[in-house]
Amino acid sequence: MNVPLIDLKAQYQNIKGELNSAVEAVLGSGHFILGPEETKLEEEIARFIGVKYAIGVNSGTDALFLAVKALGINEGDEVIVPAFSFFASAETISLAGAKVVFTDIRPDTYNIDIKQLESMITPKTKAIMPVHLYGQPADMDQIMYFAGKHKLKVIEDCAQSIGAEYRDKKTGSIGDIGCLSFFPTKNLGCAGDGGMVLTNNEEYANMIKLLRAHGSSKKYVHSEIGINSRLDEIQAAVIRVKLKYIQAWNEKRRKNAKFYNANLKGVIIPFEQDFVKHVYNQYTVRVENGKREEFQAYLKAQGVATAVHYPIPMHKQEAYTKLGYNVSMPESEKAALEVCSLPNYPEMTEEMLNHVAVTINNYKS
Ligand SMILES: Cc1ncc(COP(=O)(O)O)c(C=O)c1O
Repeated sequence: MNVPLIDLKAQYQNIKGELNSAVEAVLGSGHFILGPEETKLEEEIARFIGVKYAIGVNSGTDALFLAVKALGINEGDEVIVPAFSFFASAETISLAGAKVVFTDIRPDTYNIDIKQLESMITPKTKAIMPVHLYGQPADMDQIMYFAGKHKLKVIEDCAQSIGAEYRDKKTGSIGDIGCLSFFPTKNLGCAGDGGMVLTNNEEYANMIKLLRAHGSSKKYVHSEIGINSRLDEIQAAVIRVKLKYIQAWNEKRRKNAKFYNANLKGVIIPFEQDFVKHVYNQYTVRVENGKREEFQAYLKAQGVATAVHYPIPMHKQEAYTKLGYNVSMPESEKAALEVCSLPNYPEMTEEMLNHVAVTINNYKS
């Protein structure tokens, strides 16, 4: 039996009629950029997350970049980010001209280690960018406490955590700005690239609206240097259809995770803090003792796909080492050698989940 890491074709088959009519309606409307679908989606996402403003942009990367810009962060400023994340988290800080300050992660949740956070703060620090990795919220109470104490802004990277909750609050509604990605493999994915910026602050919302459209609020009049980063109508229509299912899909991912937690042997299962709601964009285990590649090859031979999120922590990427970064982040480096994501998506059947579990439990290292 073959079990892919994710099956977007199966997702499409389940909601094909609705998706096709939504896309057809946009094609027939002749309105493709910043139209009614986008406006409605922004309202619906703002309501779903519990924020006043949601602004659609071209990708999660653009959402992060525009968040950094809207906070007025520039050259000479520092932003703290966990070293273990997808590259865009740090990249967008650098693109905005600021200095990335890497910090290590907790080995159990893979999120920013708040024990080290305060020691990373300098007079130049302007913001902290926690990443809710794999769909589990970072330690937001402590992050907000340090941010308040040192007058820092907080940008939540929620690319993997739409619908996740920290003490009953949705990620993206806790910091100053939250950033979503609608990359196709995210829990709420579109049919291309897409992202969204979330905030309760009117000033930031207005600035992001300006910056996503060439710094212009009136045709051919430009008050800021911006970029072209608008969420198009087809993507907005696709996301609006899928938004109706996000709660159920997240619940199924959580159910799959519960099944794995109860049934897997020989690997370190994810740790979910009891006051958070993890949405398992990735169900990621640890395989110790340098056995990960062998484990992956064994699973592949049995038809089970796996992936590594991520094999190189950001501070070890050439893009940063060639800039002179030479820091040691032991937990991030260890995680990069051991993590392994297993198939977890809403369309998985019991038979598939069983196949993955039985195959893993038969693995003799
Ligand atoms: C943690 C994290 N941050 C940022 C991004 C960037 O999002 P996008 O691919 O939509 O640009 C991603 C997704 O790929 C991500 O996983």
